[in-house]
Amino acid sequence: MVIYRVKNNMDSESLEGDIGASTLDHDYIPNLLKFRDNEISSIAKNFRSLFTKNNLSTIIIILGGPGYGKTSLVRFTVRRILEIAEKRNITLFGSYHNCWANRSASAILSRVIEELIGSSIKTKGISSEELITILRSFLIEENAHIILVLDDVNALTNEDLNTFFILQEDNRYESRISLILISRPTEWNILASTLNSRINEILTLYPYTASETFEIIKYRGKMAFKGEFIESGVYDIVAEIAYESHNMRMGIELLTRAGEYASATDQMITSEIIRKIKSKVYPELRAEVLESLHQHELLTLIGIARRLTNKGFIHTTIVDGYRYYKMATEEWGENPKGESSFRGYLKTLRDLGIINIVVSATGRKKRGVRARISMNDIPASIVIERVNEQLLLIESM
Ligand SMILES: Nc1ncnc2c1ncn2[C@@H]1O[C@H](COP(=O)(O)OP(=O)(O)OP(=O)(O)O)[C@@H](O)[C@H]1O
Ligand SMILES: [Mg+2]
Repeated sequence: MVIYRVKNNMDSESLEGDIGASTLDHDYIPNLLKFRDNEISSIAKNFRSLFTKNNLSTIIIILGGPGYGKTSLVRFTVRRILEIAEKRNITLFGSYHNCWANRSASAILSRVIEELIGSSIKTKGISSEELITILRSFLIEENAHIILVLDDVNALTNEDLNTFFILQEDNRYESRISLILISRPTEWNILASTLNSRINEILTLYPYTASETFEIIKYRGKMAFKGEFIESGVYDIVAEIAYESHNMRMGIELLTRAGEYASATDQMITSEIIRKIKSKVYPELRAEVLESLHQHELLTLIGIARRLTNKGFIHTTIVDGYRYYKMATEEWGENPKGESSFRGYLKTLRDLGIINIVVSATGRKKRGVRARISMNDIPASIVIERVNEQLLLIESM
């Protein structure tokens, strides 16, 4: 993590001239964010008042489809704003949170306080209101401001989201807290489009064009594989696939897995490798989201996925899914949670778009409804592979 004089958790270390496969990691922010100059300026101008006497705070939201570059745009821009603040001796903090990792206002506020003030402050069991008071007093004392980034904000309930709005609005002309929210548009519309009127700017991103996609892929590939031999045409085919899906994550993941495959099999990266691994790349299984899932959510997912690898099972039921979840817990030496917790895990996986739950009325004799659970476009075998990797990681910690 870069330690600026102004504290922030905005990025993994990113230095001029970075090279190597780690530059393809999901939390790596490149030094150059191509083709987003207008969007960077649009975001930055909302924070101009931080550098004048007015100290106005703001709320903005960045909307855009999967892999349009929302997260990288915001982290990149906030990093730049923090650098300017540092040069001008303004105490500005930046704090980035993926709301899937911390799914309530109090969990996020606790993390912010721990980052800013240190673990000497006890945050466990303290209400959001009290946490807000602690944060506010700290900012006043330090004559500081904070830009709080809430990514995948749809993971919060409306009530939790409101806590942040109140936090920002209260004492508006002296407010020291600005918010940048990030969401995919559909999710935002479901959650809180009613809150749009309280937002200062709504910035909608559009997917990269074909030529922009190619330039970005070439730039990221050259940085990751500098000095390595790459068959000509590789970047064209990766860019083509990424453009078709309108998801830059698809392209970056293809490069990552192609690099891994090539070094494991001791060959150079070729178009043939790209074609071969294409079917293994599922950008919807986002690394940062898998990392944020709790152990029992992962065990639920692996249980459902295992059930669906059985021949003839396109979907499963809650009862069956629960049975497979229990088997998974046994295998990993964990005690299974009750059925109502299991239903909660299913809901999270559904909200993340990994599984589908369709509720239909049962036959006339058995009254009630039945939920049918299926996997969303991702082969169960791939899910099992990735979730296993994540569970092993948790076990080794
Ligand atoms: N302009 C760009 N220049 C270089 N790399 C980029 C650019 N835009 C996006 N990327 C890369 O593409 C990948 C996807 O971008 P990002 O994670 O920001 O998308 P997102 O909109 O947040 O997606 P999601 O909705 O799935 O979270 C990242 O690895 C990011 O570094
Ligand atoms: Mg994102």
